Amino acid sequence: MSNFDKPQLNPLGSLDEWEDDVLLRYPEPGAIAAAKTTEEYRNYDDPARDTVREFYRLNHTFQTYDFVQQKRAEYLAFTRGEKTVWEAFGFLNQLVDDSDPDTDLDQFQHLLQTAEAIRADGHPDWMVLTGLMHDMGKVLCLFGEPQWAVVGDTFPVGCAYSDKIVYPEFFSANPDFDDPRFNTRLGIYQEGCGLRNVTMSWGHDEYVYQMLKDHLPEEGLYMLRYHSFYAWHREGEYGYLLDDHDRKMLRWVNLFNPYDLYSKNPVAPNWNELRPYYEALVEKYLPARLKF
Ligand SMILES: [Fe+2]
Ligand SMILES: [Fe+2]
Repeated sequence: MSNFDKPQLNPLGSLDEWEDDVLLRYPEPGAIAAAKTTEEYRNYDDPARDTVREFYRLNHTFQTYDFVQQKRAEYLAFTRGEKTVWEAFGFLNQLVDDSDPDTDLDQFQHLLQTAEAIRADGHPDWMVLTGLMHDMGKVLCLFGEPQWAVVGDTFPVGCAYSDKIVYPEFFSANPDFDDPRFNTRLGIYQEGCGLRNVTMSWGHDEYVYQMLKDHLPEEGLYMLRYHSFYAWHREGEYGYLLDDHDRKMLRWVNLFNPYDLYSKNPVAPNWNELRPYYEALVEKYLPARLKF
């Protein structure tokens, strides 16, 4: 467990508040279906905006290079037991939104809707499975991690922050901001070193990537690992850290993103009908038990 108090652990009413905010920043092209206009988004008096703002203040303040190393050591040894995929979804679904239990979909519904949207467009089965698994890392919240160490846009640590990351002004409170090892354009990295050599802020993306890295094709692994790295895949930042492989993989990350953001539907898919397909899919690629 961490040393943070309750308001610091859970600034958001639910994890969905982060995703709703991403949707306002990157609305579906052509569809003005988004409930709020740009002006409303800019309205900082809106209480929902305040929680998201506070969430990013904490995220940008505490996600230091050292914090990330500590979390990697804590979680990437996978010492928290094993679960079947189906047990894991049940576990993940214990994450409930206490602010609005009736209108929000549970975590599994979001995963299933993402997977179904990918399948409906005829993409390969491993990408459907990637959609089904991509937010499994949110179980970090159930292990007591603060929301800002589970969700939120991810970014490289150990080098200067892009000003295209949402709320960049909050980085000035991060100790790395004034640390000469970490605050130059390249920081601890080499030009063109490739994202595989870059440490990202800690969250659900890296955790699920590490959990599944032996079981999905490289393209799917990029989707898992970088799906919240909006400064890269939406803003085109950090080009100087990329290598040719990253540039090749970017199109897969971009292919995935709309299914994550725009597949939410209040009508739940018929799980009883879908179940045999997904059971076979999980069995095809994943081991009998996942390590947490
Ligand atoms: Fe996610
Ligand atoms: Fe998602």
